[in-house]
Amino acid sequence: MRITINQIKNMKQKGEKIVMLTAYDYTTAQMIDKAGIPLILVGDSLGMVVLGYESTIPVTIEDMLHHTKAVVRGTKKTMIIGDMPFMTYHVSIDETLKNAARFIQEGGAQAIKLEGGVNVAEKVRRIVDCGIPVMGHIGLTPQSVYQLGGFKVQGKTTETAIRLLKDAQALEEAGAWAVVLETVPAQLATLITQKLSIPTIGIGAGVGCDGQVQVINDMLGSYTDFVPKHAKQYTKLSNIMYNAISEYSNEVKNGSFPTDEHSFSMDENLLSEIG
Ligand code: KIV
Repeated sequence: MRITINQIKNMKQKGEKIVMLTAYDYTTAQMIDKAGIPLILVGDSLGMVVLGYESTIPVTIEDMLHHTKAVVRGTKKTMIIGDMPFMTYHVSIDETLKNAARFIQEGGAQAIKLEGGVNVAEKVRRIVDCGIPVMGHIGLTPQSVYQLGGFKVQGKTTETAIRLLKDAQALEEAGAWAVVLETVPAQLATLITQKLSIPTIGIGAGVGCDGQVQVINDMLGSYTDFVPKHAKQYTKLSNIMYNAISEYSNEVKNGSFPTDEHSFSMDENLLSEIG
């Protein structure tokens, strides 16, 4: 049985920190599951760190479902949250519900995430009414990067801070089971966390949130285009990968790979019969 939203909500009540990571493929998901991490977000950040776009905006629902299915196949216990991509939950309620359902029915996810607060509260309510758990996402919402004028810290003025608190409360009232706070001042994130009964999961929002999420490629140091301030590199996979790839290339060129260890042999007598 996979982790449930009630187990995650109970962690907030007990003051246990909640760990979430993004994943986009089978093998990485297997490792996260093995590490006992309760939540995987198949984030639309895959647009940047896997597909090489400049933002999350070009990501389609087909892209998301393709990767969600791979992550689901690699996990047994972890709860999988599918990220609804740009414009898949804005056009109409009907389309929103159909798209949310695809993540659960086709993708095999147990929950969905979408960006926005007061402006999406009614959509959240309707999705939850269908039995689909919804995680909210406020603060720096990358799908609105052009509206926000860039990847900037959100909620630094009284007016914007109050708006963020209202967004968080609107999500809770609409039935969301958790909310991501992205790139907001740590003090504001702590205040929002105290005011909500549902868990907050921070990214660039300080230690006062109920949990933390990181984009796995940032955390492993495999994405080299830029390193966000909120990301801690626990290793530098890009160097490790580059060195291994170069070593392989050199060994193929100088004939030291493959050795007998990586080759197969046959009976020499048979070989002589062939000619
Ligand atoms: O797409 C994503 O990976 C996200 C996280 C940064 C929260 O939305």
